Amino acid sequence: MLVNATEMLQDAVKGQYAVAAFNTNNLEWTRSILQAAQDSNSPVMVQCTAGAAKWQQGFKVVADVVADLVDYMGITVPVAMHLDHGSYEDCFKAIDAGFTSIMYDGSHEESFELNLERTAEIVKLCHSKGLSVEAEVGGIGGTEDGVTSAGELADPAECKAIADTGIDFLACGIGNIHGLYPDDWEGLSFERLSEIKAEVGDLPLVLHGGTGIPTEMIQKAISMGIAKINVNTDLQVAFARATREFVVSGKDLEGKNYDPRKFLKPGFDAIVDRAKELIVDFGSKDKA
Ligand code: 13P
Repeated sequence: MLVNATEMLQDAVKGQYAVAAFNTNNLEWTRSILQAAQDSNSPVMVQCTAGAAKWQQGFKVVADVVADLVDYMGITVPVAMHLDHGSYEDCFKAIDAGFTSIMYDGSHEESFELNLERTAEIVKLCHSKGLSVEAEVGGIGGTEDGVTSAGELADPAECKAIADTGIDFLACGIGNIHGLYPDDWEGLSFERLSEIKAEVGDLPLVLHGGTGIPTEMIQKAISMGIAKINVNTDLQVAFARATREFVVSGKDLEGKNYDPRKFLKPGFDAIVDRAKELIVDFGSKDKA
């Protein structure tokens, strides 16, 4: 069932669990994510950056694949089709393409005022169409789609100002980083998370860079208001590792294993398995 993300994330705040938002890269990726969510009886967000949409030949292809698979696979758990880190221009394209949820990432705009102004405009447009909106304050560390941020702690006053535009959920930097965490990573700042929470109340908060954060830290963050956790690299690593094992063991040379349906299967099975583990860690299993 394709829905926006508002209700699933409000339910997550109330129930103290987080919904996984997995980035998709292609048809099989989307299929694996949907399979994992359905098997786990869990709500899920399938999300896509502009870069990954370009690879898949556009936002419309991505949105149509999600919608058609939800239908074809008989997916009954709530699924949101979400734009991840959209620029101002990307938001309009994704809305037209049929996404049910939009992240406008104005954290790279030249001023906070512009982020605020554009967020308010996107909220108005999305809400008139029944779509949910995520905004961002403070960069998330690491590099995503070629945009690098030094990684900062979001300013609680700015979080409050952006929350007041009527957004449905907020991404705020609390020391999290996209991609694999360096050995000298200092961990999440729970102090900053509680300061932000004090400003924004029950607004669902989003943790980007969900790959590689120790489970206890994830669970503590959930208990403090994190209701959506973004995961991309983790599933890529799971896919690559399983595919590598298949090749290194020489199985790719057996029979007709050159057939992509056979060659890629271990990787996709690995995505399903790993996504299911994360759904358990985030507490959303059986919360559909
Ligand atoms: P990771 O690649 O670190 O899992 O981060 C994903 C993310 O935050 C997408 O917005």
